Amino acid sequence: MAGVIGILNGPNLNLLGLREPEVYGRDTLEDVERACARAAGEFGLEVEARQSNHEGDLVDAVQAWARPGVLGVVVNAGAFTHTSVALRDAFAGVDLPFVEVHISNVYARESFRHHSYLSPLAAGIVVGCGTYGYELAVRALVHHLGLPLHA
Ligand code: DQA
Repeated sequence: MAGVIGILNGPNLNLLGLREPEVYGRDTLEDVERACARAAGEFGLEVEARQSNHEGDLVDAVQAWARPGVLGVVVNAGAFTHTSVALRDAFAGVDLPFVEVHISNVYARESFRHHSYLSPLAAGIVVGCGTYGYELAVRALVHHLGLPLHA
């Protein structure tokens, strides 16, 4: 394999498929991770998927990906998107491009969801495309990395 893409999911995303399905859909986190692996596999890449409800665990995951072979990260930080300076600093501290994903259109929701600590550092942002957004984010990351579209 030519490289690894990290897939990072934050709080409550372990409940995908059950949690507010009218907002987040019926696909589970496992479905999402499988779709990411399939998309990455098209480019000869593999994924490492991590989910945590705990802010420090997400910081640890980002730091652990700062190693040779890891090319970038697709991240849905959930509610920590809107609150976490620590996660923002973790990404700022490693040389890893990332694409930020939000399943729902956060701009059509409460105003506290309109600000992201991560967005100013992101290589790209996919918002409101449902769980399909993760697969789009993998493809956007590959494009950002300048990898050939067919491995
Ligand atoms: C979310 C949007 C966030 O505001 C929310 O806290 C989530 C999920 C999304 O994917 O739409 O947990 O990141």
